[in-house]
Amino acid sequence: MKILVTGGAGFIGSNFVYYMLAHHPEDEIICLDLLTYAGNLQTLDAALQNPKFKFVKGDIADRAFVFDLFRKEKPEVVVNFAAESHVDRSIENPEIFLTTNILGTSVLMDASREFGVQRYHQISTDEVYGDLPLDRPDLMFTEETPLHTSSPYSSSKAGADLLVMAYHRTYGLPVTLTRCSNNYGPYHFPEKLIPLIITRALDEKPVPVYGTGANVRDWLYVGDHCSAIDLVLRKGKVGETYNVGGHNERSNLEVVKAVLRELGKPESLITYVTDRKGHDRRYAIDPTKIEKELGWQPTYRFDEGIKVTVAWYLENKSWWENIISGDYQAYYQKMYQDR
Ligand code: NAD
Ligand code: TYD
Repeated sequence: MKILVTGGAGFIGSNFVYYMLAHHPEDEIICLDLLTYAGNLQTLDAALQNPKFKFVKGDIADRAFVFDLFRKEKPEVVVNFAAESHVDRSIENPEIFLTTNILGTSVLMDASREFGVQRYHQISTDEVYGDLPLDRPDLMFTEETPLHTSSPYSSSKAGADLLVMAYHRTYGLPVTLTRCSNNYGPYHFPEKLIPLIITRALDEKPVPVYGTGANVRDWLYVGDHCSAIDLVLRKGKVGETYNVGGHNERSNLEVVKAVLRELGKPESLITYVTDRKGHDRRYAIDPTKIEKELGWQPTYRFDEGIKVTVAWYLENKSWWENIISGDYQAYYQKMYQDR
């Protein structure tokens, strides 16, 4: 199989590239990535040594460029990870989220139609379902839960999801879609909660918790997300959506404390800051469909995944030190100084 992976220089996309090269050495992988602030070619150093892997720099929203790439490479499968992915950035500047996440998706699907791609897979998020109340632990998101978004980020992802389903119904494009809960693991950009805590606590710096820290997220180790996508590509039914999550709900405060404990750092580093605008209260995925229909099971419990993740950040300091030494400092100042 020749697979075009977009956004493969980012967090989940790069983990997926390594997963596929290890599990399906017969497949060819082409990575298309614009290398925005979140993309890092250093992350793909080892993959670039593999003759089955190729990197192309470009914008998924650039129609002429994307069509040219499809004409040359003729991918059989497209997996679209490329996106603007950070909620806080979407609150500051929504426009790029619409361009990349919605227009970019439509360009990739137009090229997929034109060049007869056998499967277009869209990577989506549980955030398209909006949020759940904190006092109803019985409620979870199923594939039937209506889309009901809160942030410009989640709205742009929901817009893309609707387009994906429209392309299936209108043009018969063979699509599948996965909606996953919060991922964590290696190569996670340190603007997101878990790597932010790890990298700041290691430098003995305060770790910012929004509001009271009571908001709940459902955490999945990134490798388990990759195995779910692989399964959907091979066994998933065209036109279907699959929710991916492993029942690892934790409040933000529980997450921060677990990471500090693993690092041997004091809870006195916790600093409560002004809450995020429109902050979603709770996400929780019901993964029954992918478990029952495709036999998917996650392998990491939260405490095991956190151990592995913290160990990775300790062993790969140069990866994140490079990132937090540059423009990231200006980002942190801008986003956190007045909170
Ligand atoms: P990320 O921000 O780490 O990586 C995004 C990648 O896309 C980067 O390499 C960036 O350079 C690239 N990119 C951005 N705009 C591009 C463009 N116009 N053209 C080509 N490449 C472009 O994001 P991530 O956390 O790895 O998320 C990947 C996907 O998974 C996204 O679609 C996101 O919505 C979805 N998702 C993420 C999570 C999570 O917890 N991180 C959970 C569920 C779903
Ligand atoms: P994040 O990693 O940005 O993922 P998402 O918003 O997509 O769920 O944030 C996870 C949770 O952590 C979310 O409830 C916001 C909270 N948070 C903080 O408390 N402090 C921070 O500095 C960040 C970045 C997030």
